[in-house]
Amino acid sequence: MSENKVVHYLKDYQAPDFAVAEIDLTYTIEEAYTLVRNRMMIVPHEVGRPCVLDGSAELLQIVLNGKCLSPHEYAIADEKLTIHTVPDTQFELEITTRLYPAQNKTLMGLYESGDNLYTQNEPEGFRKITYYFDRPDVMSQFTTTIIGDKRRYPVMLSNGNLIDSGELDNDRHWVCWRDPFAKPSYLFALVAGQLAVLEGNFTTRSGKEVALKFYTRPEDREKAGFALESLKHAMQWDEDRFNLEYDLNIFMVVAVSDFNMGAMENKGLNIFNTKYVLASNDTATDADFEAIEGVIGHEYFHNWTGNRVTCRDWFQLSLKEGLTVFRDQEFSADRASRAVRRIHNVRVLRSMQFAEDAGPMAHPVRPASYEEMNNFYTLTVYEKGAEVVRMYHTLLGEEGFQKGMQLYFQRHDGQAVTCDDFRAAMADANGVNLDQFALWYSQAGTPQIKAHGDYDAHNQTFSLHLRQFIPPTPDMADKQPMVIPVKIGLLDKNGASVAFKMAGTADKTEETVLVFNQTEQTFVFHDVAKEVVPSLLRGFSAPVRLDYPYSDADLMLLLAHDSDSFARWEAAQTLYRRAFASNLDALASVQPLPQHAELAQALTSALNADIDPAYKAVLLQVPTEAELWEDVSSINPEQYVCARQALLQSLASSMQDTLTHWREWADEQERNSRHHAPQEYHPDLAGVRSLRNTLLQWGVLATADLLHNIVNEFSQRATNMTHEYGMLAAINHLSDDKRNDLLNQFGQRHAQDDLVMDKYFILIGSSQRPDTLQQVEKALQHPAFSLENPNKVRSLLGSFSRNIPHFHAADGSGYRFLADYILRIDEFNPQVASRLVQAFNLYDRLEPQRKTLMAEQLQRIQKDEGLSKDSREIVDKILH
Ligand code: ARG
Ligand code: ZN
Repeated sequence: MSENKVVHYLKDYQAPDFAVAEIDLTYTIEEAYTLVRNRMMIVPHEVGRPCVLDGSAELLQIVLNGKCLSPHEYAIADEKLTIHTVPDTQFELEITTRLYPAQNKTLMGLYESGDNLYTQNEPEGFRKITYYFDRPDVMSQFTTTIIGDKRRYPVMLSNGNLIDSGELDNDRHWVCWRDPFAKPSYLFALVAGQLAVLEGNFTTRSGKEVALKFYTRPEDREKAGFALESLKHAMQWDEDRFNLEYDLNIFMVVAVSDFNMGAMENKGLNIFNTKYVLASNDTATDADFEAIEGVIGHEYFHNWTGNRVTCRDWFQLSLKEGLTVFRDQEFSADRASRAVRRIHNVRVLRSMQFAEDAGPMAHPVRPASYEEMNNFYTLTVYEKGAEVVRMYHTLLGEEGFQKGMQLYFQRHDGQAVTCDDFRAAMADANGVNLDQFALWYSQAGTPQIKAHGDYDAHNQTFSLHLRQFIPPTPDMADKQPMVIPVKIGLLDKNGASVAFKMAGTADKTEETVLVFNQTEQTFVFHDVAKEVVPSLLRGFSAPVRLDYPYSDADLMLLLAHDSDSFARWEAAQTLYRRAFASNLDALASVQPLPQHAELAQALTSALNADIDPAYKAVLLQVPTEAELWEDVSSINPEQYVCARQALLQSLASSMQDTLTHWREWADEQERNSRHHAPQEYHPDLAGVRSLRNTLLQWGVLATADLLHNIVNEFSQRATNMTHEYGMLAAINHLSDDKRNDLLNQFGQRHAQDDLVMDKYFILIGSSQRPDTLQQVEKALQHPAFSLENPNKVRSLLGSFSRNIPHFHAADGSGYRFLADYILRIDEFNPQVASRLVQAFNLYDRLEPQRKTLMAEQLQRIQKDEGLSKDSREIVDKILH
């Protein structure tokens, strides 16, 4: 079945045989194709080696030191061009290829979107453009000339600075860009077409003037304003917190609707999914604004963590991604609402990355092998990778961490390096040993900690026993104990913080970070005068699961009083989990469902406490199904949805008055807001609105006339997209026809807005209404829908694949439907298809009937003759 499987291993890494002193590219854009002439100055590292270049484009000509090569002097096989004999010293190689960007639906390499041309080269797109050493440790200086029609391609961009331009006959013109920084091919970018530009500027702290340019379709220009402001904030923040300044005179961002991922950090020329650039109050929710700020920050921060210092090979991807996600998380947290942001990130990690780590695709932060690199742009590499970086920060403190960063740049600026180099910089800058820490890069699976505590009144000590277990994953059975920072505080039975002394320290403290690095360990807290409840893993100090035998009363105490906002939220999460578990038991044994009166009471008090509205909203988050079944096998997804829904229902009913009170309060707040125009994005208002929208979702469960209120007041209240979408999301599962009416009106009102239509498709794909599959099938025919646009596929089919009752429908219809579309999309865009395949990751853990139904569909995909290696790698791993 998979005879041609090529697996790449980290252990096989070999340094490149050649260096490229310079590369000079000329793109000639013609009506139906683009010619690329690639002239390289190549320097052999060792004599006598054949010159092997990566590439798959149509090859027109090879010229070596001015002499055209004849076919017997080279060979082409498996996307590699081998030139048998090359000179021992520097030589010039010129290769000409022909590309057909309009036919390229993979959205990798050079492709057309609208009438414009764009590139995406990370990780291995450059080989679709020309023949090159398409690996990140070959870095070179790029000069790029672009020739095209003046009217069709008035704007022609590449990396670095515009150094020259001119006019040609036949209404054509040319531009020449030069990037002074050596870079690998994955950071090369080209954009050509009709684009409007929104400009700004930034003066760096050493006085460099930087021109900021945002390129969009002409009609979208004004919608880039928020992104432009975000960029200025990001540039300022990187100077203030990381001491890092921008290094070119120009920074460009181009927005494109057809894009496989979020955005791409090409040197000086970031290319973004429109979703992370364009926003207005009428088209973007507060969450969209926040995501834009975060992604703009992320790509900008890559200029140092990714571009100035890049990866030696793709196994090291987390070197730049984990670090840059950590940096963008810190940027967002410094901008506003640190506590809520942290909780949000933890929730994403736990419901999605933990699931990945417990499934067939489990891999370490630094994978040991891959078949298709595109499959390894994962939650593990990005989000768990960011947690790994955060642990250095937790262990070393801000100052120590920044010392490590400084040493890292001092040693490696301009180099392609490894995660070990980063770890060494952190260790050496702080004079500490981080050898054991390396296990975070090589062992997959979520570590589990079992904890228990003993209070000794006589000795006035509290002892905390910890025991760790790293579960086996498909790649590795036996694992070593890891270094786990456990941040901890103690509370007395009234909820007051209790100071303590650790052995060997002179001063009392109220919080400490335990360095837990053995299979089993006991930590003793001295001078503890009374019984205490430990507040564990504060701030989620490590990406682990921790289990402590708290009583419900302990958890309610933590929820009410813990000074750590993560630990407080976590106490509520544990209470929800316990309530959920009792519902699940009751449903299984056909008993009446418990009422959870105490939990409702605790939540009511928490809501009535004097805390930030956005934090109230996150307290009302019940763990997702994926979190609830994290340690379960033989899952019946339907039961999880029922038991969870029943929990929400009963809490909503008993808390009805409180919920209504706070909903009205939120409305009032916004009406009275004097400081900000009420329809605009502002973090304070965003908090109030997120509380209001959360309360609407709870409200429709308990208050029968809420639907009618929403319908009657819809147009009056829909003053911005956060409200408009919030109301639609709240009623999205209701079977009432009014939901369809409002949704249809929404679709008509925004028919011309590509990004709002994504929201329309998300609502359809994620609804729990019984007729959802029919509605999804109908939406596939909608004029605004396109299988070739990844945002549309993710909105409609991606949300359907996460729609638990419908994707896991007992008759297998959800599985069959998704498999049909995976096969269709895989023919032209393997990257998007292989993401969808991962909806089947739960296969091995499902109850037998669904497992059989899923197997049929997985086998159907696996048997497909033309299946991409992207999808094949995933299917093979699921069915193993
Ligand atoms: N480096 C990009 C980022 O900022 C992601 C690019 C991934 N592209 C891909 N085709 N897999 O995270
Ligand atoms: Zn990134």
